[in-house]
Amino acid sequence: MTEITITAPDDWHLHLRDSDMLGETVPATARIFKRGIIMPNLVPPVTNAELASQYRQRILAARPQGNDFEPLMTIYLTNDTTKQDIIDAKAAGVVAAKLYPAGATTNSDAAVKALEALYPIFATMADVGLLLLVHGEVTESHIDIFDREKVFIDRYMSKVVKDFPTLKIVFEHITTKDAAEFVMAAPANIAATITPQHLLLNRNDLLVGGVRPHNFCLPVLKRNIHQQALQQAVKTGSSKFFLGTDSAPHEKSAKESACGCAGCYSAWGAIELYAQIFDEIGALDKLEGFASHYGADFYGLERNSQKITLVKESWQLPEQIILPNGRPIVPFHAGQTVSWKVK
Ligand code: DOR
Ligand code: ZN
Repeated sequence: MTEITITAPDDWHLHLRDSDMLGETVPATARIFKRGIIMPNLVPPVTNAELASQYRQRILAARPQGNDFEPLMTIYLTNDTTKQDIIDAKAAGVVAAKLYPAGATTNSDAAVKALEALYPIFATMADVGLLLLVHGEVTESHIDIFDREKVFIDRYMSKVVKDFPTLKIVFEHITTKDAAEFVMAAPANIAATITPQHLLLNRNDLLVGGVRPHNFCLPVLKRNIHQQALQQAVKTGSSKFFLGTDSAPHEKSAKESACGCAGCYSAWGAIELYAQIFDEIGALDKLEGFASHYGADFYGLERNSQKITLVKESWQLPEQIILPNGRPIVPFHAGQTVSWKVK
């Protein structure tokens, strides 16, 4: 196949940041994606309806003229989140709340320290129909970083799933065979997003021949058997797995540093890179469901009516991009050839 037309896709996991950075990130995603689930890990985090509504306005103001990209807002759960916060969020059009275990990733210091304490909040979320988005990693220092997702499943995720049969839960950016199997076996109210980097790469791409800071994200890339399990999961065509880029920009100097930030800025080539890997694994016929149908279905939203066409044609991602503040950022897969292109 050298050309494929699919329903226009949505990005169910996206970091846009704030302020002048929106001048870069919003057009980059809105170029292709119709909607995005906007992550709330700003500094300070987006913890309630009012902050989410204000943030939404700043995102809308950064859209290119004539573009109808729709930001779908989330709030950030803390141990101080109240039931009223959930009710107000739902009333304000917020679609989900994000659970970051404290210390798990970028700007997560304010996050949840005792998961059980949030049970009344989860119950309210199930009642009002707010989705729970989970960064599924434990954060205890003695747990090996490559095991943190599996330990999170065993200790917390399996219990939350059992205790809240009516709460829709998205296990975000899954990285392991364990997570893929867990989601596949879980009831219909559990789904997962998968990033382009976790389909394309494994931990060798992070460490062999030198440290590759632009491939560093969290949860960290795992060994190739896990990468293959994620590829097999999307290849089944199961509606439990859908597109979430986790496009997460950090300036070049923050990535190429003695303590480099986690996050791959994939918005410049995301749908094309998904098409490339789906093609490589012989699953191009499953791309549309993954990119454009299953996420909307799970969130209970209409599928997009527009279409996009991808053609098998090589092009190169830029080595770097200059941000509105004048400083450079290196996009994911910078300088590398991509084999599919949007027509
Ligand atoms: O790699 C990551 N970057 N993983 C996350 O969970 C957060 C994100 C960010 O905000 O930079
Ligand atoms: Zn993320």
